[in-house]
Amino acid sequence: MATIFPNLSSAIFRVNPFYRPSLYLTIRGFNKLGAQQGPLRPARSILRASFKSLSAQLSSNFNLAMAQTQNQLIPDKSLVVLGIETSCDDTAAAVVNSNGEILSQVISSQAELLAKYGGVAPKMAEEAHAQAIDQVVQDALDKAKLTEKDLTAVAVTIGPGLSLCLRVGVQKARRIAGAHSLPIVGVHHMEAHTLVARLVERKLQFPFMALLVSGGHNLLILARGLGDCIQLGTTIDDAIGEAYDKTAKWLGLDLRKSGGPAVEKLALEGDAESVKFNVPMKQHKDCNFSYAGLKTQVRLAIEAKNINAGISISSASSEDRKARADIAASFQRVAVLHLEDKCKRAIEWALKIEPSVNHLVVSGGVASNQYVRARLNEVVKKNGLQLVCPPPSLCTDNGVMVAWTGIEHFLVGRFDPPPPPDEPEDALVDLRPRWPLGEEYAEGKSEARSLKTARVHPSLTSLIQASRKQQSESAV
Ligand code: KG4
Ligand code: ZN
Repeated sequence: MATIFPNLSSAIFRVNPFYRPSLYLTIRGFNKLGAQQGPLRPARSILRASFKSLSAQLSSNFNLAMAQTQNQLIPDKSLVVLGIETSCDDTAAAVVNSNGEILSQVISSQAELLAKYGGVAPKMAEEAHAQAIDQVVQDALDKAKLTEKDLTAVAVTIGPGLSLCLRVGVQKARRIAGAHSLPIVGVHHMEAHTLVARLVERKLQFPFMALLVSGGHNLLILARGLGDCIQLGTTIDDAIGEAYDKTAKWLGLDLRKSGGPAVEKLALEGDAESVKFNVPMKQHKDCNFSYAGLKTQVRLAIEAKNINAGISISSASSEDRKARADIAASFQRVAVLHLEDKCKRAIEWALKIEPSVNHLVVSGGVASNQYVRARLNEVVKKNGLQLVCPPPSLCTDNGVMVAWTGIEHFLVGRFDPPPPPDEPEDALVDLRPRWPLGEEYAEGKSEARSLKTARVHPSLTSLIQASRKQQSESAV
């Protein structure tokens, strides 16, 4: 097992102006290092020197050359990473190695809470995470037949997501990393949904496109490298998963496995042409999405048919059930048509930017839907591309995607040093509830989108670009 010196702050964190605790620890660590080595050197130059020496050390310790390009992932069995995910309503952990072997995967779902309250309530979700996290992580280690001592690093989702929930996972990751001197990799939840496709399809090379469809996000991206992507489109209001969840709730469906699967199942019984819904944003020549209007159309249709969500689908008369199934099927058809329209345009844009694009990855919870997969497969085939869809268990939130993304970043030297073993519970930690993945494609900016651009953190891509610039300047 390699020894990692606790004096490298990851590229992601080093250039992040909001990451005070790590910066503090970094400078404190570097000053200690400087003091040991003789006269105190300025922290910045020590930081550069440390990065170089750590990179060199990584190369020899893991017997791998630092990946020269981001497509060259060099697997090494000795890398074993624990991934922790708590950004929304699932408490998940997994252990994965750099050969892409999933050694364990554990998820504790809050579906019962969701069913009871009809949505995610942050405070309750936080409590549920706090109750589940220790057991989930322990189960993941036990199933992998490992202990913390066998790990190379801990990867954890630091955003985007609900702060209260993210904090539970990050604190757990820091406790483990602190106690066992393990480096930490802070992971972007949406990048994790994307990169898990590279675990599933090992030949998947950058650049590729991705459509990420979940409860809170609807993104079309061009992934050019690790932490490097162009955002072709996003939602101007709700994501498709939210529309599925509300449709399920208003139709009185069983929400215990979340709304999406319930709508998908009921839609199989319905006539998808029977209720006329408008496809959103037909007149916008961009790659952005909107599902708020479709939600309203569904609600009005449900009211018009006097469907009572208080009567569960299992108790509905056959006529009532048929009316609900028709709405489910018609909603799904139009919701997915909207995805198809925007994917067609995004493929045109992506091929203009990067003609070597061959694949469209579809991931995120909604990508586990068979109808979504089948329809998008047609779009992709017509455009000469290939569809890559992770299996459903890796499309919905999971720890595997976090561990794998951690491995990818770790292999190119992006990670944080172990926190101190005695870090107080209330220490400030780096959480990024609103954290864009990439910069918006300049030619694709639309009026509709510009209304909603408030952000808290610089995008992952801009942070990594700044860090690369900083490294190349220091190399001169
Ligand atoms: O990625 P995910 O697990 O969590 C978020 O990051 O949001 O996605 C959850 C979303 C929920 O809205 C859920 O209803 C939806 O994915 N979903 C589905 C299906 N399975 C999960 N939507 C449609 N069809 C499905 N089979
Ligand atoms: Zn997700």
